[in-house]
Amino acid sequence: MSRPQHETAKNALPAPRDNAFAHRYGPWAVVTGASDGIGLAIARELAARGLHLVVVARRGERLQQLARELAGRHGVECQALAADLGTAEGCEAVRRMIAAHEVGVLVAAAGFGTSGAFVDSPLGAEREMLAVNCASVLELVGHVAPRMADRGRGGIVLLSSVLAFNGVPGSAHYAATKAWVQSLAEGLRGELRGRGVDVLASAPGPVDTGFAARARLAPGTMLSAEVVARQTIDALGRQGTVRPGWLSKLLGWSLATLPRPMRVVLLARVMKGMTGRRRDGGPGVAPTR
Ligand SMILES: NC(=O)c1ccc[n+]([C@@H]2O[C@H](COP(=O)([O-])OP(=O)(O)OC[C@H]3O[C@@H](n4cnc5c(N)ncnc54)[C@H](OP(=O)(O)O)[C@@H]3O)[C@@H](O)[C@H]2O)c1
Repeated sequence: MSRPQHETAKNALPAPRDNAFAHRYGPWAVVTGASDGIGLAIARELAARGLHLVVVARRGERLQQLARELAGRHGVECQALAADLGTAEGCEAVRRMIAAHEVGVLVAAAGFGTSGAFVDSPLGAEREMLAVNCASVLELVGHVAPRMADRGRGGIVLLSSVLAFNGVPGSAHYAATKAWVQSLAEGLRGELRGRGVDVLASAPGPVDTGFAARARLAPGTMLSAEVVARQTIDALGRQGTVRPGWLSKLLGWSLATLPRPMRVVLLARVMKGMTGRRRDGGPGVAPTR
């Protein structure tokens, strides 16, 4: 379990790339899962658009490095918060950070997946995934949404997945956590739209990050985290759900016409392909870092 640690980096250098975005959603953004992958790319994207940042994950060193990078490159203020979102203490540390800043954007990107047969997966790993992928999202959204609604502006971005739209044998519980995220985003969007707060679910297909290794998957085609980040932030305020990249769109369109039980059968085959390419062939137990 990581202890919350803070570091601030500041540098008044270049002008922000997108003044309208910073005006609409600034001054501060909180990005969880910012030490790696999609969260890291989204943190860079938001800093380039002129937002100050609180970046959250367990690996504090990486966050501190990122804080220095963003301050130096974009002249924004960046605070690094090392916290384990699988714990109540970690969530509380982020809530305190949110309370101390005028947060206009929350991006909940921290998360991980498991794969393989549910019956072979240790329940502890599944519990940890539920805590990070869902419970921490509830805590942070529950804290930030009322504040944004009172202020009459803001943006909330939740990381869903192409696997969020029906049951997925071979990734049953991970898909269930993402269905929860997708449904929350859609419902909240309807509730908060009239109060000036934009809510977006980003539902990518396979992305080239540390995710696949941790979930013990071997996808074929993968999108870069930078493309996902750009398309996700571009969609904020314009769409309710964005499917970054052609593969997620193709999968969405082609599955949409099929009855739900048939989609489950097809996705089971897709998952089999991805777990079948694993070198060890063992169950997809998520190793903790
Ligand atoms: N990659 C894909 O193919 C894909 C596709 C669809 C959706 N997604 C979703 O996108 C999100 C980001 O995934 P990614 O691809 O960027 O994975 P990643 O490269 O493995 O990054 C995951 C991030 O989450 C953080 N994290 C994990 N457990 C945490 C914990 N207990 N407390 C705090 N932070 C934690 C990690 O930081 P630390 O290890 O430093 O804590 C890291 O910054 C996830 O929600 C995932 O479900 C990914």
